[in-house]
Formats: sequence, C-alpha cells, structure tokens
Amino acid sequence: MTGSAPTPQRRLGDPIPPELLDAGERMDADELRAHQLDRLRATLRHAYDHVETYRRKFDAAGVRPEDCRTLADLARFPFTTKADLREGYPYGMFAVPLDQVRRLHASSGTTGRPTVVGYTERDLSTWADLVARSIRAAGGRPGDKVHIAYGYGLFTGGLGAHYGAERAGCTVIPAGGGMTARQVQLIQDLRPEIIMVTPSYLLTLLDEFERQGVDPRKTSLRVGIFGAEPWTEEMRREIEDRLDLHAVDIYGLSEVMGPGVAQECVETKDGLHIWEDHFYPEIVDPFTDRALPDGESGELVLTTLTKEALPVIRYRTRDLSRLLPGTARPAFRRMEKVTGRSDDMIILRGVNLFPTQIEEILLRTPGVAPHFQLRLSRRGRMDHLTVRVEARPEAPAGQREEARAAIVRAVKDGVGVTVEAEVVDPYTLERSVGKIKRVVDERG
Ligand code: DLL
Repeated sequence: MTGSAPTPQRRLGDPIPPELLDAGERMDADELRAHQLDRLRATLRHAYDHVETYRRKFDAAGVRPEDCRTLADLARFPFTTKADLREGYPYGMFAVPLDQVRRLHASSGTTGRPTVVGYTERDLSTWADLVARSIRAAGGRPGDKVHIAYGYGLFTGGLGAHYGAERAGCTVIPAGGGMTARQVQLIQDLRPEIIMVTPSYLLTLLDEFERQGVDPRKTSLRVGIFGAEPWTEEMRREIEDRLDLHAVDIYGLSEVMGPGVAQECVETKDGLHIWEDHFYPEIVDPFTDRALPDGESGELVLTTLTKEALPVIRYRTRDLSRLLPGTARPAFRRMEKVTGRSDDMIILRGVNLFPTQIEEILLRTPGVAPHFQLRLSRRGRMDHLTVRVEARPEAPAGQREEARAAIVRAVKDGVGVTVEAEVVDPYTLERSVGKIKRVVDERG
C-alpha cells in the first residue's frame, strides 16, 4: 500500500477484526482468572524472595506468598505506596540484579525525591505489546503514521508510546513535547492518522493551528490517544468537534509500567479496559483502606502480574475511579475515566472539589475556552477559589459578564460552594507542553 490517504473501506469505530486480537485478548473470563492467579502467585513469590521491603511488609502482616490461593486472598497482603518506592530510592525495590535492567525511567514527582523505575528486556517487550494492543483498540492499524507528542526522556509517555507504535506496525513520528509551531507543520506535511499527546498539549496545538490559519478539521488525523492527565467527556466533545477525529483515553503510571495499563476502545468510548492479563485492579476506600466492590468509586490499586524488574503489589495509585464490567473486550474489566487524584482534591470550606468538575462546567458555558486555571488564595481565615478562564476568541466581549455569572452559579449549584470567576482575554493563560498544572496555590 502506498500514499497517505486513509483506506476508504476502513471505517473507524467498527469493532476490531478478531484476527487483530492478541492471545491475551482472546482469553475468556475463566481462562483469564486462572491465568491471573498463576501470575499473581508467581509475582508475590518473586517480590518476597528478591525485595527486602516486600519481605519485611509481608512478614509484619503475617502473610506468605503461598497464602494466596484465590484472587480474593490478595486483599490480605499489604499495600505499597509511593513512599515505599521513595524510601528505596534509587534501586531498593528492584527485584532483579541491575545488569538485567535495560532501561530506567523516573516519575514526574515535583516534591521530594523522584521515584526510579526499571525494566528488564522482557518488561520492555511486554510494555510495547500492551501499547500496541492499546493503539489497535483505539483504531490504529499497521501502516498508520503515529505522531507522538508526549515528552521523550525520563517521562514514560514518549518512549512508551514510541515502542508500542512500532510494535503495532505503525510508522512513528517522534515529535516529543514542545516546538509547537513545527509540530503543526509536521502534521500537515507528514499526514499522520494518529496523534498521541496529553489533552492539554493538544489544546496548545489547536491554538497554533488556528494561529497559522489552518483548519484543524481538515488534517489527516483520525484518532487521538490522550492520557497522562484527567480529562472529561466534555473535553472529548470539544476535541472531537474541533479536530474531527475520535478521541480515546489511555491510562498508565510509571510505577506500574507507563502508558498502556488501560485503554479505551474506539467502538464504545465507555471507559478504559484494564489489561488484566498483566495488571490486577482493585478499588479501595481511600480513607478506610477497605476494599470496595466493583461499581463503587474509590482509589484504584494495581498489582503487576508479569513485571520482572519492579513488581508492585497493591500499589496505591491515588487515582479515583471505579471498576465496571468489560464491553468491547468482555473478559477485561473497565475503569471509569479518572476523576482526579486524591492529592489534587481541593477542600474548599469543607467541600471537596476536583479540577475535572470545573472543566465540565466551563466546557458547558457558552463563550469560554477550555483554557483555565484555579487559583487558591486566603483572605483573613477564609480560603477562596478563583476560576480564571479565557474567553473564546470569537466570543463577543459583551458575553463575558454573562459567562462569569453563569460559571459562579453552576459551581454553586453543581458542587455546592461559592467561587469567584474571571473571564480573561484569549491566549493569556499559560499553555501546557505536557501535563498541565491546573491549581495555583497562593495560600502560602
Ligand atoms: O503519565 C504515563 C502515561 C503517559 C499515561 C502517557 C498515559 C499517557 P506518570 O508520569 O507516572 O505516568 O503519571 C501517572 O498520571 O497516576 C494519573 O494520576 C495520571 N494519569 C495518567 N493517565 C491518565 C488518564 C504517566 N488517562 C499519573 N486519565 C497517574 C487521568 C491519568 N489521569
């Protein structure tokens, strides 16, 4: 096949042809459960035998790897937190000798020590397989060109997406983050079908399309695989409208692997299937640590089932979601789109609030753009939250006051707390080139 025009007979959004499913995706639920138990027992043993922290924690909890006889027995094992990984910095939690580690990445942690994660050759291959599976689930096919605008380097986004796209038989355009004007040029010239990028950086790219006078709906892009930060259904609609593509969600975290832990299927767009042949999910109450049944919202906890270099047992992700039954991949459970991280939750005068709730409201408000910032300040003993959002460039100036009042009202009605709002000039708030920081805390 030559040329860059999309194959006309290929319709996006159709179910994946069965021959494109890999062996893991073909398992039925019973096979999957048996396979998970096998791999879970092996992982617990591997972690206990090779990582001092796990040995100490299992011993203190009075459990041994062989006590795991059913999947439900996992709940008897202790949690692992970011603090455990930090304490072991840099290599303390590795379960293989360093000469078997082929690559290191580090988490984007902004405070304290970073966490370092490692991969054996087999881990890297599994990761590429799972990102390739994710790309196929998103509608990508061999021969598609994939523009990767996730940052390359210690962040897992760029290289994780890169090797997965190659494994899927795609042509990779390793654009990385930044040099926005050039990226827009490359998208026009090289005509990729797929883009992998954070949703906030995509908005920056969209601005640039408009600045260059290019209609973003006319690009070659047909699928966007967006992750590394929370984004809402309203943002999906905004992006799909402005770019005329299918926007799907990819989830992952460096401590567990990187992108490709879970992926939304393009034909259903109903949350992300967790690749359960490699990761075992649980949901726990973030305050009481109690395990919650499927369907209830709480903190996602993940256990790796195949990782060699850095197995993680019951890792507390801090990401809030819930587990739902599989749809497009019936054997794998889905996770609902992440609402936010428990550490990103703003407690404003006793009311809990997530930036995604504000995003939903803003995107439903006529005349304002999806560029916003939340500013926390203190006056006297009271905390205040100011929602700063840009006016849409095409919106009449007279609409701003109406929009401002509508935002204040919608937050009061929907979230139950009074905030202030400012509608600022277009292109005045800082743009993202990777993961966006929504909250500016000026409380000192
Ligand atoms: O962000 C890995 C990744 C790269 C995922 C590219 C998807 C695409 P970390 O830098 O370790 O790894 O950050 C992990 O980012 O715990 C979530 O809080 C957040 N996150 C990742 N994907 C999503 C998503 C990468 N789809 C942390 N929705 C996670 C919401 C996400 N939050």
